[in-house]
Amino acid sequence: MARDVSTAGSSDQLLDTYWRNVVRRRAFLKGVGMAGAALPAAALFATNVQAADSMLSKGDVAILRFLAAAEIIESDLWQQYNELGGADGGNAAYIAALQNLDGDMPQYITDNTDDELSHAAFLNAYLRWKGAQPVNLDEFRILPSSKAAGARQIGRLTNLQGLDVDLSWYTRYRSSENPDLGDSFAGPLTITNQPAIPLDDTDTPPSMSQPVPPTTSQQNRLQAIANTAGFHFGYIEQGGSSLYTTLALQASSLQVLRIVVSIGGVEADHFSLWHDKAANAVSQPLAGVTDPETGLTFPDFNSPPGRELFQTNKILPEPCDFISEDLPDCSVIRPSSTRNSGAVATIKSFVADQLFRGQSREFFEAIMALAAAADAARREL
Ligand SMILES: [Fe+2]
Ligand SMILES: [Fe+2]
Repeated sequence: MARDVSTAGSSDQLLDTYWRNVVRRRAFLKGVGMAGAALPAAALFATNVQAADSMLSKGDVAILRFLAAAEIIESDLWQQYNELGGADGGNAAYIAALQNLDGDMPQYITDNTDDELSHAAFLNAYLRWKGAQPVNLDEFRILPSSKAAGARQIGRLTNLQGLDVDLSWYTRYRSSENPDLGDSFAGPLTITNQPAIPLDDTDTPPSMSQPVPPTTSQQNRLQAIANTAGFHFGYIEQGGSSLYTTLALQASSLQVLRIVVSIGGVEADHFSLWHDKAANAVSQPLAGVTDPETGLTFPDFNSPPGRELFQTNKILPEPCDFISEDLPDCSVIRPSSTRNSGAVATIKSFVADQLFRGQSREFFEAIMALAAAADAARREL
């Protein structure tokens, strides 16, 4: 039976265990030549098998297959946001709460969703075009949908109904320090087990109004949910910006490099947009919302004034240490190292985010096999 790994122990420990299993199994399969064996899930995703007849190098296939998986995951979460809060979204109160961050939020959500779907479809089509195996995660669409008006009742890959959102990116991009040179950052607030989409129509009626500031308990609840979504958008897209920057350094073919940097640029574009919108949840007139269920509060980050690491309109990346502290500060995407923002680091971050809460052991093995293979890719010239 599939085990809910998110509640079974620390995510780092679990991922390390799965990773060791993947390594052991891949070494074994190499030994027996894979012939005729009934293959476990991780083996089906092992890139050395999938790359055998491809025109691309093994490393390039591994990079593209992991990115295809990441884009399928992104597409799954963005589709959930889009069904409820997009331009044709079905939850009027959630849309209104998102519009309290910016009137254009529904259109931006829909366009971001379209972008992710196009990334996933392109990467898989390119893999096929080059004779490599595309990625399909359909068997892992097992998580429940929201019961709120607007959500389709289908299986999901990702959980948005209780998230621990890492906000260290907010201070990291306002700081002149760089995690790749050993610095670490505390987020400006802590979001723990907080929904980013409405759960059901009793909790947050879809027909209610959503004034600024919210007045009723249910209005406060839904505004906190929408504010969480705003910060989660930024979290996801800064991760994509760093992931693409990191994997670009490992690409061999110029065409694969072109794909990675061209999609990566759009991830950075998304991040910048959401960074700006999330800041509206913690500035006037919306600041001060508290979720009556979880106690999560979104304070005014601009009060007291003068705190540069909090100031809401400082959304452009501050110049920071880069390559060496002997060099002048430079405004860059950061981190961009395998350790901090490679494929395995990205999956570990998604696990800590609770994005995969309730997923099966087989899913973790499959996704870690893809991630480990991508991180192992080396530039071959
Ligand atoms: Fe994407
Ligand atoms: Fe993205």
